[in-house]
Amino acid sequence: MFFDILLILITITLCFVIFYTWNYDYWKKRRIPYESPIFPFGSIKDALLLRKPLGSIIHELYYKYKDYKYFGIFFGRHPILFIRDPELFKMVTVKNFNDFQDNTASMSEKSDILGALNPFILKGERWKISRTHITPAFTSLKIKQNMYPNMVDVSERLKMYITKNLDNFSNGIKIQNLARDFASEIFTLCGLAIKTDAFEDSKNPFKIIAHEMFETESFTGILKFILMIVDPAVSLLLRTALMSKTAVEYFRKVIRDVRLQRKINNINTNDYFSYLDKLQIDNADFSEDDLASHIVTLFIDGVETTASTIKLTMAEIAANPRVFKKLREEIDRIMVKYDNKLTYDALRDMTYLDHCISGILLFFHI
Ligand code: HEM
Repeated sequence: MFFDILLILITITLCFVIFYTWNYDYWKKRRIPYESPIFPFGSIKDALLLRKPLGSIIHELYYKYKDYKYFGIFFGRHPILFIRDPELFKMVTVKNFNDFQDNTASMSEKSDILGALNPFILKGERWKISRTHITPAFTSLKIKQNMYPNMVDVSERLKMYITKNLDNFSNGIKIQNLARDFASEIFTLCGLAIKTDAFEDSKNPFKIIAHEMFETESFTGILKFILMIVDPAVSLLLRTALMSKTAVEYFRKVIRDVRLQRKINNINTNDYFSYLDKLQIDNADFSEDDLASHIVTLFIDGVETTASTIKLTMAEIAANPRVFKKLREEIDRIMVKYDNKLTYDALRDMTYLDHCISGILLFFHI
């Protein structure tokens, strides 16, 4: 009996390994240079073992294959063509975009309806429609007029919070959490036009949701994100969800409340929520969940990306006094020029700050 079970287990394992590695000669057969896969990780073992960010591995491979216009890699068992040549890249992303438009990541609408409607996940015609819906809301003019004043408001509140708590920070402060609160406050103001207080209020629901979703110290959390991109089929099978059901319900409720309040108080503004609300009134096929998903997209795509960029930029600046001094001088000089007001144009004038942030994005491959 024991040997029968052992034999069955060995056969199943063997079948799985054969199935999984079946494609491992994919690039070899096509005579395309490739990074040899390691079972079951493919070419991204360190990312799947959470030893390195996926972006760093991609960066290393980009330079390793610098003599080629393109090369092959494997995400798990999936062959991926990596294009280095700018002309070829332009052909794929512009000229022949219709043949290459699909996103890689997948998510089941059953496990997370709002996450699954994110343009990062949607495919084909649905992606196109979704992008058509949101693009007009993010023109430079709209960001400057409707969103930027909110960002300044949150910045002022952050300044006040830090000034007030300076003594409490003498033993250090977790910048990622503070930056996450900052980005989450910007989200609630820009996306929902409601003012909360993530800095002071430890029970702020958006803060709690953001912490639950993005805490990178959580192994399953980060693996979930990687799996969605690396092996969408497995991610679908496991019904991976970005948001918990409670979070989805909370967002739905807040959106209903905001809409009701606006109706009762006859509020008609130019913000993102009003834009989406109007879109729903004008389009019969734009559902309640479409609206909610666009709000949630701002949250999912905007909060942690912003928080991580702030954290890493601050860490680098703190470790480089020369950069710190130069940046301080630039900020002081430009604030004087703009009458001590952090206007949109003042921010755009801070070119060294822009270089610092761009350098971080490039270096850390966020
Ligand atoms: C440091 C900040 C950020 C970084 C590094 C970043 C990076 C990226 C990357 C690499 C993609 C995939 C592009 C593609 O597959 O073609 C993407 C997509 C996207 N990002 Fe960001 N992002 C950042 C901030 C934001 C913010 C603040 C928002 C929202 C306001 C946002 C919204 C989106 C959306 C909606 C998509 C999907 C676009 C599509 O597929 O059509 N991102 N982002």
